[in-house]
Parts: sequence; C-alpha cells; structure tokens
Amino acid sequence: MTDIEYLKKYYKGNLNDAIKRLENNEPVQYIVGEVDFYGNIIKVNKNVLIPRFETEELVDYTIKFIKDKFNKKINILDIGTGSGAIAISLKKEIDSNVYATDISKDALIVAKENAINNNVNINFINTNIYEGINQKFDVIISNPPYISYDEEIMDIVKNNEPNIALYADNNGLYFYEEILKNIKSIINDKYLIAFEIGMTQFEDIKKYKELYLKDSIITLKKDMQGRNRMVFITNIE
Ligand SMILES: C[S@@+](CC[C@H](N)C(=O)[O-])C[C@H]1O[C@@H](n2cnc3c(N)ncnc32)[C@H](O)[C@@H]1O
Repeated sequence: MTDIEYLKKYYKGNLNDAIKRLENNEPVQYIVGEVDFYGNIIKVNKNVLIPRFETEELVDYTIKFIKDKFNKKINILDIGTGSGAIAISLKKEIDSNVYATDISKDALIVAKENAINNNVNINFINTNIYEGINQKFDVIISNPPYISYDEEIMDIVKNNEPNIALYADNNGLYFYEEILKNIKSIINDKYLIAFEIGMTQFEDIKKYKELYLKDSIITLKKDMQGRNRMVFITNIE
C-alpha cells in the first residue's frame, strides 16, 4: 500500500492536511496517529518509536515459547517499552504480571494511554533500564536502542523518530551488555530473555551471554526477510 492509500484508508481528518504533512516527510503512522500491532491498536506520536513488523515477530516467538514452556502465571519485564506495544501484546495473550520501563517520561504517557485503551493493567516504571527494580522475572524482553551513532539510516527515521529510541553507544551494543551484566539479580530460576537486535550484532551479544549467563542456551532467529533480528537466551530445554 502506498502512503497515500494508507492515509485514505486510515486517516480520519482532512486528507489535504494529511497530504501536506506527508510532503513534509512526516511518517504516515504519526499522521494517522495509530498503528495495528499484533492485532492491537497502538497510539503513536513523535515521543515514541513506530512499532515495526520485526518486533511483532519477536512478540510472536516469545508468546509461543511461553505457552509451550511455562504453565503458571509469570512475571514479564519489557525494557524500553516506548508505545507499550510489546508489553500490551504480551499481557493480552499471557496470564502474567507485566512490568515495563522507559527512561522517557513522554513515551510512558503514550504507553499508559495505550494500556488503558487496550484494557490491560501494566506496571509502568520510569527508570534507566531496570534500575531500582527488585522483582524477579520469568521473561525479560527488550527492543532497545541499537543503532550505532555512525550508521547511515533513512532520513525519515532520523528526522522524526526520537533519537533516544534509536541510538546506542558501543556500536549500538550498549544496552545488550547493560541488560545482561546484572540480569541474574532479576531473573527467576527458569527464564527467557528475548531481544530484538541489529542484523550484525549477534556474535557480540553471544560474547556477553558467555560472560554474564554462561549456563544458558542462545538462539538466533531470522525475520521474514531473512535478516538476523531476534535473539533468545534461556535455560529451559
Ligand atoms: C527501539 S525503542 C523500542 C520501543 C518499543 N519497545 C518498540 O519495540 O516499539 C527503544 C526504547 O528504549 C527507551 N530507552 C532509551 N534509553 C533507555 C534507558 N536508558 N532506559 C530505559 N529505556 C530507554 C526509549 O525511550 C525507547 O522507548
């Protein structure tokens, strides 16, 4: 579908105004103001990343794993929740207590509205990564910022979506190491850690896993376009 077709289908206001915004290189999803993510309507604005298809795939794999391996009510943590898309989709499908963090207060305003609109109860926490959280989790999921500062990305992304949602130090690897470094303090005996990753980052993340969670299994999954985009770390056979 072209952007114009998308606007015609989903935009509820004056189409001419919407087309002007499109001509000013604004993403069509911000103009419409909402997206469908995993069957849920998620409000988006310039304070949150536009949820991507590959993140739906991450959620789908995670839901299948949980349904297969856990048969109890579980605790889930979504780190860097943005619009809340991941947390809301998991809460809808899984018998769970869901916690979600973000360093951006503005993102959390959107996430909280999305949780209300989707009739789910999520514990949103404004913190750095998982600082100050004393809870233990069965599942930790994150689509953190992972773009290296020197990577060329599309102007429409760079000029519209929040930089804090996109870029990370250490060639984009900063959050994977920070999350894994102390993760033992917040995981239960049996756990799943699910990450969305940049397509060249797997080998480095594997090294962090060896360093910080030696006795676990790491699996790489490709997205629908055949790119290495998801990593699952678990000690459940
Ligand atoms: C790539 S976006 C992912 C948003 C959403 N989870 C999704 O998949 O669509 C990364 C998110 O991490 C948040 N973030 C950035 N730095 C953070 C930090 N130090 N601690 C917690 N969240 C952070 C950003 O505000 C942003 O919402």
